[in-house]
Amino acid sequence: MRIPVSISCFCLLLFLNIACKKASKENQFVVEDDPHSFSNPEVCKVKHLDLELNLNFDLKQIHGIVNLHLEPIHGDTLVLDNLDLEIQGVQLIQENDTVNADYKVLSKDEVLGAAIVVPLQSSTKIVQVKYNTSANARALQWLPNEQTLSKKFPFLFTQSQSIYARSWIPCPDGPGMRFTYHAKVKVAPGMMAVMSASNGIVRNPEGIYEFNMELPVPAYLMALAVGDFDFKPIGQRTGVYAEPSLLNKAAAEFSDLEKMLETAEKLYGPYPWGRYDVIVLPGSFPFGGMENPRMTFLTPSVIAGDQSLTSLLAHELAHSWSGNLVTNATWNDFWLNEGITTYFESRIMEALYGKPYADMLSLLGLQDLDKSISELGADNQLTKLKLNLKGIDPEEGATDIAYEKGKSLMRYLEERFGRNDFDRFLMRYFEHYKFQSNTTEGFLEFTKTNLLKNNQGVLDTVNQWIYKPGRVTYKASYDDKKFSDLKIQAANYFANYDTNLLKTADWSTHEWLYFIRLLPRDSSSRLCKQLDKAFNLSTGRNCEIQCIWFEYAISNGYGPEILPDIEKFLTNYGRRKYLKPIYSALTENHMTSDALRIFEKAKGHYHPISLISVEKILNPKI
Ligand code: BES
Ligand code: ZN
Repeated sequence: MRIPVSISCFCLLLFLNIACKKASKENQFVVEDDPHSFSNPEVCKVKHLDLELNLNFDLKQIHGIVNLHLEPIHGDTLVLDNLDLEIQGVQLIQENDTVNADYKVLSKDEVLGAAIVVPLQSSTKIVQVKYNTSANARALQWLPNEQTLSKKFPFLFTQSQSIYARSWIPCPDGPGMRFTYHAKVKVAPGMMAVMSASNGIVRNPEGIYEFNMELPVPAYLMALAVGDFDFKPIGQRTGVYAEPSLLNKAAAEFSDLEKMLETAEKLYGPYPWGRYDVIVLPGSFPFGGMENPRMTFLTPSVIAGDQSLTSLLAHELAHSWSGNLVTNATWNDFWLNEGITTYFESRIMEALYGKPYADMLSLLGLQDLDKSISELGADNQLTKLKLNLKGIDPEEGATDIAYEKGKSLMRYLEERFGRNDFDRFLMRYFEHYKFQSNTTEGFLEFTKTNLLKNNQGVLDTVNQWIYKPGRVTYKASYDDKKFSDLKIQAANYFANYDTNLLKTADWSTHEWLYFIRLLPRDSSSRLCKQLDKAFNLSTGRNCEIQCIWFEYAISNGYGPEILPDIEKFLTNYGRRKYLKPIYSALTENHMTSDALRIFEKAKGHYHPISLISVEKILNPKI
């Protein structure tokens, strides 16, 4: 039961000021170092979460009880992040008694949510919050039976990164705060549940599951998936969970997973999390992959049938070190997570499949970087590695810059100091900061001491990469033989438009992507038609190729002829990376009414994260 708050406004403000030392104006006290969390770790640290979650698929609601265990010595207030939760009560569990807390939910900030302020007593050990999630909780996607393959059970998955953990668990929700967790989850009998923690491999007949994560993680790595899925082992420490009809196909696609894990360990040290499993989610998952510890969440679009998109696995696996073990301190340092990971991913791919193959991926990444910088503008602040996202949704900072400019910086350092020294440095870096968060400045300090030594010239260049917008003039020594061969074939083709001149039997997905990017920009639907007839680009191959092909085809007047294929793609997949360019191309090429019609039909399948992005494209005034 909630105790009415009786402190006057003046007293409340005073108390918040003292407790949080950060009040700028009423209800606006954000931890100075983390612009996206209201929590106050400098006053009170949460060290462990004990969760009890009851899932109600009819109401699309989680009823939760969370016990937040505090560090023994703490101040007099705990501030928790919360987005749209219905708080039913807060209690203080203390040495000798349990009392109702005189808590207050402050007014809501549209992006950050509403802080919960809980006054503590000196003997408070645990703060217990009882709550319900809202029907439109940002982190949750509830799918009805019909949207699953088996159609036997509904499906629920969470997506907490960047600041949505607070929409299903009231907690300190910033990447700089870590805690261990235990969870008891109750679902309908017959359903399976997994978390970013220790997991079982069989279903519990009563639908009761328990999870432990005994290593400290930040809130954005809290994850839960519930549905009709089974487990298949791949190696000793690796395996895959997927809907039964997809399980064998998924296991075959990911058959190199154990090898990837061993390769990653050889590069940068022992895998710190015990097991590494992955789960294939329904097509509406808004991302390619999400590195939830011990349980990477994946889009089914990665299952191309020929293992051609598995660099995504290498990427999420690499996050086990860069991201999950050493975490960006705030979302301003997002490049530390994604840039180092994209570099690490490339090293795994090179070790497993050779330099020419890995370098194709890197060269495509550089094209993405160029495109992002052109689109954002070379003087745009978002093209810096170190961001300033105060007052801005962290989503805005999640661009290719963090991934590809960050990776380029790693590559620059590797080439400048040699692979041996660089690898030793990175291994030491992970060891030094393990289970901690790090700022860009912390990274710089460590780099100065352990790699740059007194090399002022390199330091100036590194500072430029990090703090200046736009490109840095540096050309990594990637092997571009495969693409230069392809360019010759393409030039021959463009000379007389004979598709027989394209030796596509030898092309990998990456060559296809490169080729489509080489096609003349202001072309005609005739060229599109010829290529489509020869190579079935609209219907076949894989999602990556289909996506960039649709974008190209729509921009060149071929959209109306392949509308059913586009529609099928947009209704089957909710991955934001695919939806954004295709919906944009439709609206920019006189096909807005088609876009709106497809969106109306498909939007029930889209995750809130993708939905918002597409709505912005279709109705730019939102
Ligand atoms: N952690 C990210 C996904 C993410 C980033 C979620 C920012 C929310 C906010 C994940 O590791 C990732 O980068 N996924 C990529 C795939 C990767 C191969 C580039 C994706 O989903 O496209
Ligand atoms: Zn990533």
